[in-house]
Amino acid sequence: QPVTVLPVPFHFGASRPGASGGPEAVLQAGLPEKLQLLNQSYSILPWKETAESAIERRTLERLRNWGRVLAMSEALAHSVHAAMENETFPLTIGGDHSIAIGTIAGITERIQQLGVVWIDAHADMNTPETSLTGNIHGMALAASLGLGDSRFTDLLGRSPKLQAKRVVLVGVRELDEGEKRNIYETGITCFTMHDIDRIGMGRVMEKAIAIASYGSEGVHVSFDIDSVDPGEAPGTGTPVRGGLNYREAHLAMEMLFDCGMVTSADIVEVNPLLDTNGRTARLAVELIGSLLGERIL
Ligand code: ARG
Ligand code: MN
Ligand code: MN
Ligand code: MN
Repeated sequence: QPVTVLPVPFHFGASRPGASGGPEAVLQAGLPEKLQLLNQSYSILPWKETAESAIERRTLERLRNWGRVLAMSEALAHSVHAAMENETFPLTIGGDHSIAIGTIAGITERIQQLGVVWIDAHADMNTPETSLTGNIHGMALAASLGLGDSRFTDLLGRSPKLQAKRVVLVGVRELDEGEKRNIYETGITCFTMHDIDRIGMGRVMEKAIAIASYGSEGVHVSFDIDSVDPGEAPGTGTPVRGGLNYREAHLAMEMLFDCGMVTSADIVEVNPLLDTNGRTARLAVELIGSLLGERIL
């Protein structure tokens, strides 16, 4: 299946700038060459900025830059939906994690029973009420589950986009108090670093894939590069120590490819301004390779 690469140079869902340089950094680090090496047919759909005049510039303390995030999300949702209608695999390159609101809205226009594997140091399960920062990248999964501000939960009309029984978090190690409640109340599954330490990444991913794919028509992988340990992935805006090691991250992607259910993916939060010699961008390219079937042997 051809891949549609969707670069989304956007950082208004986060507090630090820089994530908007993520797509360029990942392309420069060799994404096209990787896709060619894998004999993967692809096209790159350049990002079109929404006209400034069409963007609501007022902001809210609990929903920072909401007008900008909303304009981006709507545009991205339509592009992702079109990529799906053309029978291609949408691969979004972020950008901060707020872009997943748009990706998921676009995919679920076509696949209503969508499983999601959300690989992240964080849960992104805040609402404007529980968030301590007001940053929308910390609300993306909650919004897709129907929690929070209706501007985001109801993008393109339906809410919720996702059913909790098909949603799995992997790699979590930093949660706000309100997010713990939201995880518990929605009933999504959360595999923390503790679970990975105890039973191993292989077993965690087996369970995660089983949950996300049971009765689902497709699985979306939303990969936040900050899931990986900052030693390996320093170029990201909200690093948290104690993350996935290099092989655990690859194993997750390899197992996701092998399950044969993955229909779309996001790779987000690569920040070249914070990176050391392009290390994090190169890691993103390698991980995309594993997700698309690259193997050691
Ligand atoms: N929980 C924090 C917040 O709500 C951090 C979120 C980080 N999210 C991310 N996609 N990197 O602001
Ligand atoms: Mn559309
Ligand atoms: Mn995230
Ligand atoms: Mn994160």
